[in-house]
Amino acid sequence: MTRRSLPLIAVMLATLAAIGLAALVAWNQLSGTSGATARGPGEAVVAPGLAVGGSFHLTDHTGKPVTEADFAGQYMLIYFGYTACPDVCPTELSSIAAGIDILAEESPELAAQVVPVFITIDPARDTQAVMADYAAAFHPRMVGLTGTQAEIDEAAKKYRVYFAKGEVVSEDFYLMNHSSYIYFMGPQGEFITMFKGGVAPDVMAEAMGRYMSAPSG
Ligand code: NI
Repeated sequence: MTRRSLPLIAVMLATLAAIGLAALVAWNQLSGTSGATARGPGEAVVAPGLAVGGSFHLTDHTGKPVTEADFAGQYMLIYFGYTACPDVCPTELSSIAAGIDILAEESPELAAQVVPVFITIDPARDTQAVMADYAAAFHPRMVGLTGTQAEIDEAAKKYRVYFAKGEVVSEDFYLMNHSSYIYFMGPQGEFITMFKGGVAPDVMAEAMGRYMSAPSG
C-alpha cells in the first residue's frame, strides 16, 4: 500500500459510511420510527398503535411467582401454547430453541440476553411440575409459566392470543385451539416484533440479532 492510496481509501470509507447512514435515516423516516423497524421475512405485520404485551402475574416452572419486572433487562422470546399439543406447539418451541442456539453461534453475548418463555394457555393440565419437565425438554434456559385461569386469561389478552377448548378426543383428553405467534420483547418489556407460526429458526435468529444490534430510539 502506497502512502498516496491511504487518503483515497479513507475518503472511500467515509463516503460509504455516509451512504449507509443516509440509507438508514431514509429508512427510519419512511417507517416513521427510530431504530430498525424493517420487517423481515417471518415477521407478522402489526397494526400501528396496537399494544402487544404488558404486565403479567404468573408462576414459573420452579414455583416462583413472576411478573414482567423479573425479566427487566432481558429480551424475551415468548410463545403461548400447551404441553398436550400434538404438533404445533412442539414445532414452534423447537424453532425457538434452535433460533436462540443459532444466534448463540454468531453472537453468544446477544443470545445470552434472550430468555425463551413458554406460557401455557391450558393451566388446568399444565401445572408447575408439568411445565418444568416440558420446558427443559426444549431448551436448558426455557422458562415455563403457568398460573390461575384468570392470570392466564389476562396475559393472553394483553398479547392478543386467541385460545379456546377444542376437540374432546376422549373422556380425559381434549385439544386446545390457539393462535400461534412468537413474540420478541425488549429489555424494558417493550414489544419489538412477532414472528408468524412456522418461522424458520435461522430467520428468527437473524431478526433478533438485527433488532438487538440496532441503535435504540
Ligand atoms: Ni399448540
